[in-house]
Amino acid sequence: MTTETKTQSQVQQPGKEILARRYATLGPYSPLFYEKPLELVSGSGVWLTDAQGKIYLDGYNNVPHVGHANPAVADAIYQQLLTINLHTRYLNNRVVEYAEALLGTFDGALERLFLTNSGSEANELALRIARQHTGNTGVLVSDFSYHGNTTSLAELTTGLTVREPLGSHVRPLRIPDTHSVAEADVPALLKQSLSDVDAAIASLQATGHGVSAFLFDPLFSTEGLLQVPAGYIDGVAARVRAAGGLIISDEVQSGFGRTGSAMWGYQMFGMEPELVTMGKPMGNGHPIGAVVTTAELLDEFGQNNMFFNTFAGSPASSAAGLAVLRFMEQEDLMAKAGHLGEYIRARLETIAQGSVNVGSVRGRGLFFGIDITESDGSRTPAPGLTKILIEDMRERGVLISRVGPHDNVLKMRPPLVFGKEHADILLEQLELSLGSLS
Ligand SMILES: Cc1ncc(COP(=O)(O)O)c(C=O)c1O
Repeated sequence: MTTETKTQSQVQQPGKEILARRYATLGPYSPLFYEKPLELVSGSGVWLTDAQGKIYLDGYNNVPHVGHANPAVADAIYQQLLTINLHTRYLNNRVVEYAEALLGTFDGALERLFLTNSGSEANELALRIARQHTGNTGVLVSDFSYHGNTTSLAELTTGLTVREPLGSHVRPLRIPDTHSVAEADVPALLKQSLSDVDAAIASLQATGHGVSAFLFDPLFSTEGLLQVPAGYIDGVAARVRAAGGLIISDEVQSGFGRTGSAMWGYQMFGMEPELVTMGKPMGNGHPIGAVVTTAELLDEFGQNNMFFNTFAGSPASSAAGLAVLRFMEQEDLMAKAGHLGEYIRARLETIAQGSVNVGSVRGRGLFFGIDITESDGSRTPAPGLTKILIEDMRERGVLISRVGPHDNVLKMRPPLVFGKEHADILLEQLELSLGSLS
């Protein structure tokens, strides 16, 4: 349908026609943000343009890590496609070059990798490696998490709706959050939480599953950006390892310098997992993921499985990944995320003090949030108000979202090329939007 043939009602309700066509093909269940879904037609850096020409600041998307339509990434993929793009059963220097560059960001024993096409595939493979290595099936996860969409991952999904019941081999853990208690009560919270881990492990052992892995997102982002007490993650790791299990750090959200202090989220805790999984920002939108692990685990898995993945780690995907790493380094994006994150956090603290609707300020680096509470001062989570804020921010030209078990934690996780001038726009609009609630 051309613009000229559109009916008056379609003109008045932009996006209605494409929405109907989407429902008629993809069905109505594939999630869409916003009451009136947003049709985005182009992007550049941290800016997005919709079909009506309105411009939005992207305060939400982490996949375009080095910016929307980044020319360096686009050019790298294009040049590679013009040269050669094949699966990985032939030698190709681009793939090895990328593997070396990515592994160069790790320390210690993490010196091998498997390339995948997504975060889900990476987690699926990591769990398979852990099961085979340990001979156990039990998995510990947080009680409000998401790690992907395969069958095995659906069986351990606690943070969104899935038909599969929680696997009998899965034990969800309540993750301690220092935001939820007074400072003096943190040691008791830590003690209780670690004794919950002991109980979960004992229960897995008693039912014959044993422990294969603890799978966690270091930022606990689906959970609402929790802040765990010092000693929790290493405490869990020690217990899991004593039971023969491995640690899988899911870096889909926290990796690639997002925390501003280190390339990988697990580095916040001063421990090293046996398996690290990643995806989303890795190819700036080109589908690529990975499992980084030890030589011992890769060799063991490789010797026992003819593992092959057609598209994963193709030269074009590797070119995308390499361009992301180079751009990050050239622009010093991780350090910038650290500094800007501190600035944003300080301003959010001030905003929180001035608003009855803000509980705590959460997050690290360029992944930050505030929890929205009811206007009566009761600090009750306010999902309804949170939704109103997100819709209002969209009207103000800023895209953000929300997470957490009560759906009341604002999720702000912009591309890493976000600058202070962008942060100022976001914060100013957020303050106005919060003000409009009362
Ligand atoms: C922490 C985490 N792990 C894994 C995944 C799954 O990644 P993908 O959608 O690339 O399969 C997601 C997706 O949102 C995620 O947030």
